[in-house]
Amino acid sequence: MVWAPDPQAVGKTIDQLDTPCLLLDLDRLERNLDAMARFFADKPVRLRPHAKTHKTPNVARMQLERGAVGICCAKLGEAEVMAAGGISGILVTTEVVGPAKIRRLIGLAQQASVITVVDDAAAAQAVSDAAAAAGLRLRCLVDVDVGQHRTGVEPGESALDLALKVARMPGLELAGLQGYEGHAQHIVDPDERRTAHAAAMQPLCQTADLLAVHGLPTEIVSTGGTGTHQFAADYRAITEVQAGSYVVMDIEYGHVAGLSFESALTVLASVVSRSGTAAIVDAGYKSLSTDSGPPRAKNLDARYTPRGDEHGRLTFDSGNPLAIGDKVEITPSHCDTTINLHDLYYVTRDGRVVAVWPVAARGRVQ
Ligand SMILES: Cc1ncc(COP(=O)(O)O)c(C=O)c1O
Repeated sequence: MVWAPDPQAVGKTIDQLDTPCLLLDLDRLERNLDAMARFFADKPVRLRPHAKTHKTPNVARMQLERGAVGICCAKLGEAEVMAAGGISGILVTTEVVGPAKIRRLIGLAQQASVITVVDDAAAAQAVSDAAAAAGLRLRCLVDVDVGQHRTGVEPGESALDLALKVARMPGLELAGLQGYEGHAQHIVDPDERRTAHAAAMQPLCQTADLLAVHGLPTEIVSTGGTGTHQFAADYRAITEVQAGSYVVMDIEYGHVAGLSFESALTVLASVVSRSGTAAIVDAGYKSLSTDSGPPRAKNLDARYTPRGDEHGRLTFDSGNPLAIGDKVEITPSHCDTTINLHDLYYVTRDGRVVAVWPVAARGRVQ
């Protein structure tokens, strides 16, 4: 049996929707997309937004229409969904390791324009061998660790050494560098954030210069996120920014000073029980992520605490304006991990559903 997701939803008011469900405010989304596109319009740096946040070709298409040079995906599964949705210019920002994934990368490259990243010579050689066997030359960036200590080769000589090897691999076409400063994104104070960003960008830019001295291409130097996007144009070597969360924002990014993007995402929940100063809603760990702290009820002076997989508790300091059956919008603390919990976006304008979009790459973690 195929489950049909509420075919009558379009035209309903938010209050008429069943819960829990994910609401996307289209006006706010469009203003965020426009603001970011405007920011980069007159800069030498371009935008290649990260689709790991929204996980839907619908939003990727809106980003490309506004001038993005392509998109980023964290996982091959996301990239496959984007390619099937007609999106091209996909930078897969995570290393592709192992025969099963390499096979999929080659399949992806046969459908769409794809760029891959490497941080190890043997792993790069395996990708090159498969690409060459398929008659392909895959564009490739050397991933540099700029301080996040996640993936990436050390900047400087180590990165140069790997770049020289990649440049000689027949199945790869070296296009430049990636260096993502994830550790700087959520620093609240803009001056401290700029300082942390500079500490990450200096070794990245020095590495780009080193490659250039050795005659290696640096046409792409890809970096940055929502928190640091505004500093990227200070660096001549940087060519593109990978911001993701700006499309919808979340509570954690709401604390980061100096960003003007709007909160466009909520989870709609219903009050299913109440007692005294607390109301229990039908949204728990399975519909609201808590890896970045507690979500927050919109327009209510209440604290949200998870109460298991299916429930959350809203606690008011005094009083409790909610009745059983009331609907409450809750803003996620972390947009990426909350979106990944839902099948559908209920897309709204002025409080009414105007579309239902699948979160098409939801659960595509491989
Ligand atoms: C490699 C990479 N680039 C860009 C981003 C986008 O960052 P943000 O969502 O903070 O804009 C992420 C987010 O995790 C990432 O992992």
